Amino acid sequence: MRNFTYIIAGGIFLTVAACAASQTGAVDPAPTSAPAVVAEAPEAGSPADHYQTYCALCHGENREGYKNDSAPSLKTASLFSVSDYPVVLSTAYGRPGTPMGPYLDDMGGPLTMSEIHDLVLWLAAAAGQETFQPSVEMLKPIPGDIELGEDVYDQNCAMCHGPNGEGHGAEGPGTALGNATMLATQPDLFLKNAIVDGREGTPMPAFANMLSEDEIDNVVAFLRSRAGGWDVEEMAYEEPPSLENIIQNPDGPTPSFELSEGRYIDSAQLNAALEAESRIILIDTRVPYFWAMAHIKGSLPVPYYSSRDEFIAAVPNDGTWVVAYCECPRAAADFTVNKLRELGYPNTAVLYEGYAGWTAKGFPISVGKVE
Ligand code: HEC
Ligand code: HEC
Repeated sequence: MRNFTYIIAGGIFLTVAACAASQTGAVDPAPTSAPAVVAEAPEAGSPADHYQTYCALCHGENREGYKNDSAPSLKTASLFSVSDYPVVLSTAYGRPGTPMGPYLDDMGGPLTMSEIHDLVLWLAAAAGQETFQPSVEMLKPIPGDIELGEDVYDQNCAMCHGPNGEGHGAEGPGTALGNATMLATQPDLFLKNAIVDGREGTPMPAFANMLSEDEIDNVVAFLRSRAGGWDVEEMAYEEPPSLENIIQNPDGPTPSFELSEGRYIDSAQLNAALEAESRIILIDTRVPYFWAMAHIKGSLPVPYYSSRDEFIAAVPNDGTWVVAYCECPRAAADFTVNKLRELGYPNTAVLYEGYAGWTAKGFPISVGKVE
C-alpha cells in the first residue's frame, strides 16, 4: 500500500505510471531511447519510430507542428511545463471532434499506455524537459471570475480559438479550447502556463505582458467552467456528496450490468444506468483535484491512497452496485474494487475506459470544487 508521502514525492502521475506498470509489470520512467537527431531509420518499436509512424504526418518530422491540420508543435517547453501527464492523456484519448485521434489501444488506437508513456518521455526529452518534479499542487484549481474571464476570452482569444472554443478562429489557427476531453485532462496550471508563456515558435502569443495575472486567472476559470459544455447557461460547481448520501437514487431500479472479465462495464452501460436513475454508488478513485477538474455527476471522490475505511463503512452490503473509475484507465479503480470484493461486496464494477475514455466518447461531465 502506498502512503501519502509517496504520492507527494512520487508525483501526481502515479495513475499514469501505474497504468504503465500494469501493462509491463514494471514502472520504468526512463525513456527507452535518446531523441533521434540522426537521419537513419529509428529502431522498430522505439519511441522515435512510433513518432514517425503515427505522429509526423500532422505534427511534422521534427515535431515542429503545422504539417497538416494545423497540428500544434510538440517541441515547445511550455507543453511539458506541468509534467508529462497532460501530453500522455492528450495522446491516449485525443481531442474528439478534432483531427487529433485517440492512440490508446483501449480506445481503438495502436499503442499501449506504456508505449504512449515512453513516447511522451521521448518527446519531453527532445524538447529539453528531462525531469519532472510533479506535485499534487500542480493540479490545484486556479480561482478566477468566470464572467470577467469570458470578456478576456472574447477580446483576446476567440479570434484564434473560435468564438465557441471550437478552434480555428477568423485570424488563424488555435486549438479547440472548449473540447471536453481537453478540459477534462489538462489541469488549470497547464492552461495558465500556455497563456502566460505562450508556445515559442508558434502563433500562440505569451500573454505575460499583455494581460494581468488576474485577467489570466479569470480566463482560465472561464475555460474550466466550459468543461461540461460551452453553452452551459449557468455554471454550477458540484460539491462532493456527503458520506451519508453516497447512494444515488436510493429508490431507483437496480442496474442490470453485464460484466466483462468478471468486473468491467463500459461507458454506455454506466450512462444508461445513470439515465435510468438507478440505485448506484459511483466512486472516483483519482486524486480529488482531478475530480474538481471534471467528473461523472454524482460521484464521490475516494482516492485510491485514502484508507477508504469511512467510505466502506457507508456502503450498505445489500447488493447496491458500486462502480469505480479512475483516469488511468483502470488500475486505481481495480485496486479499490479488489478491496471491496475481499470484504464481501460482490456487486462491484470498474468503468473499463476510465474517466478520460468516458469524456472521449462524449458522455456528460460535471465540474467540481474540493478544498
Ligand atoms: C491527423 C493529424 C494528427 C495526427 C496523426 C496526430 N495528431 Fe496530435 N493533434 C492534431 C491536432 C489537429 C491537434 C490539435 C487539436 C485541437 O484542436 O485541440 C493535436 C493535438 C495534440 C496534442 C495536444 C497538444 C497541445 O498543444 O496541448 C498532443 C500532445 C498531440 N496531438 C500528440 C500527438 C501524438 C503523440 C501523435 C502520434 C501518436 C499525434 N498527436 C498524432 C493532429 C494530429
Ligand atoms: C494568434 C492566435 C492565437 C491567439 C490570439 C491565442 N491563441 Fe492560444 N493558441 C494558439 C495556437 C496556434 C496554439 C497551439 C500552439 C502550439 O503549441 O503549436 C495555442 C495554444 C493554446 C493553449 C494550449 C491549448 C492546448 O490545446 O493544449 C491554450 C490553453 C491557449 N492557447 C489559450 C489561449 C487563450 C486563453 C488566449 C487568449 C488570452 C489565446 N490562447 C490566444 C493561437 C492563439
